[in-house]
Formats: sequence, structure tokens, C-alpha cells
Amino acid sequence: MSVLVAPSLLSADFGDLRKDLEMINSSDADWLHLDIMDGVFVPNISFGFPVLEYVAKYCTKPLDVHLMIVQPEKFLDRFQKLGAMSVNVHYETCTHLNRVIQEIKNLGMKAAVTLNPSTPVSVLEEVIEDVDMVLLMTVNPGFGGQKFIKSSLAKIGRLKKMILEHNSKALIQVDGGVNFETAPLLVEAGVDVLVSGNTVFKADNPLETIKKLKQL
Ligand code: DX5
Ligand code: ZN
Repeated sequence: MSVLVAPSLLSADFGDLRKDLEMINSSDADWLHLDIMDGVFVPNISFGFPVLEYVAKYCTKPLDVHLMIVQPEKFLDRFQKLGAMSVNVHYETCTHLNRVIQEIKNLGMKAAVTLNPSTPVSVLEEVIEDVDMVLLMTVNPGFGGQKFIKSSLAKIGRLKKMILEHNSKALIQVDGGVNFETAPLLVEAGVDVLVSGNTVFKADNPLETIKKLKQL
């Protein structure tokens, strides 16, 4: 199976969102990645429900939601109503991670847990069999266009080992600094899903860029 590609809307042109959504719809992208920020968990604020409702209406690709917010459990039903395919919650924001994972699944969505670069994969030992996906941040969350943190490559190996040991079906997703230099290394390391903001949306030819990422 070729690697899945999920362009991150954070780097889109919000002055002409319709155009970028049409590009995504006609592309080989597998999912559209949506970064939700609250200015508390991360030092930035992105977009909220008025924008998301528009995106959900026009986007024909499955929506992969990345919640960089405190108390993510408060909004899970809103994302279900929006039609989200998957919800990523940060380990660092969930005191009762097991409960949050079950709530996401009970709402019929795929449950994913996200780790900051400084959080070790070992914290997932007790939930790895329950999650559909693990998202490893390869930059500090909050902004697009940052530099890939190299130590993430070894972390992917440790996560892969844990997944195999537990016979888990969890996919490995990475987010941050994915470009044509880092993506081949990530695919080689066993990543299943590449999130990419700047590399896709700031490219001269985003359609071709998505196609090339998928061919890695
Ligand atoms: C950062 C977000 C990313 C961001 C990635 O906190 O989670 O999804 O859009 O952007 P690039 O691919 O430009 O690093
Ligand atoms: Zn993201």
C-alpha cells in the first residue's frame, strides 16, 4: 500500500478557500487534515466551526481533525456532526485518555492520539491496542512551515516496535516539516500517513506535489 497523504489546510489561501478545496477534491490526496488551535495548548489560534462547516460542505475527502486544544472532549460531538472521519487528541491534553478514546469511537469516528516531540512513545503502552492511529508531531505544534525535528526518525522506529509487539492495527502518521527531503526518510522508517501543509499548498503545482508524495 502506498503512503497516505493528508494535506493540512492551515497553509491554504483563506482568501480563496473554495479554490484550494477544489484542488484537494480533484487531487490524489487521501484525507484533508484540519488543525484546530485554541491559543492555550499551543501559542496560536487557527480556525473554528464557521470555517469548518464551509470546508465540510465543499470537501469531498475524509476529514482528519487534529485538536490542539485543552479539554478536547468538550467538542467531540461537534466534530461528529461535522462529519469528521478521525479525531486526533493530544496525549498532553487528556487526563483520562482511555475515556476520550472510547468516546471518539462511540461517536463512530476513528480515534487517534498525538504526541508532542518531547513526549516518549512509551506513554502509549496502555492504549496502543485501542487506537486507530498515532500522530507523531515532527515539529512543535502550533505553526506551519517549521523545520523537521530529526530525532523523530528514531521515535518512529520505537512506535513501530510497540505496534507490532501489541499486534495493534494503529497507523503511524507524522505532521510537521514534511517535504521532499524528509518524506522519503519517513516512508522508509515505516510511516503510513504524511501530513503536509507548506510543501503542498505553497508549491507551484500542488496537484503534482501530492501525486509525487504518494509515489514515495
Ligand atoms: C502544526 C500543524 C501541522 C502544520 C504542518 O501544528 O499540526 O499540521 O499544518 O505544516 P507544515 O507541513 O508546513 O510543517
Ligand atoms: Zn496537524
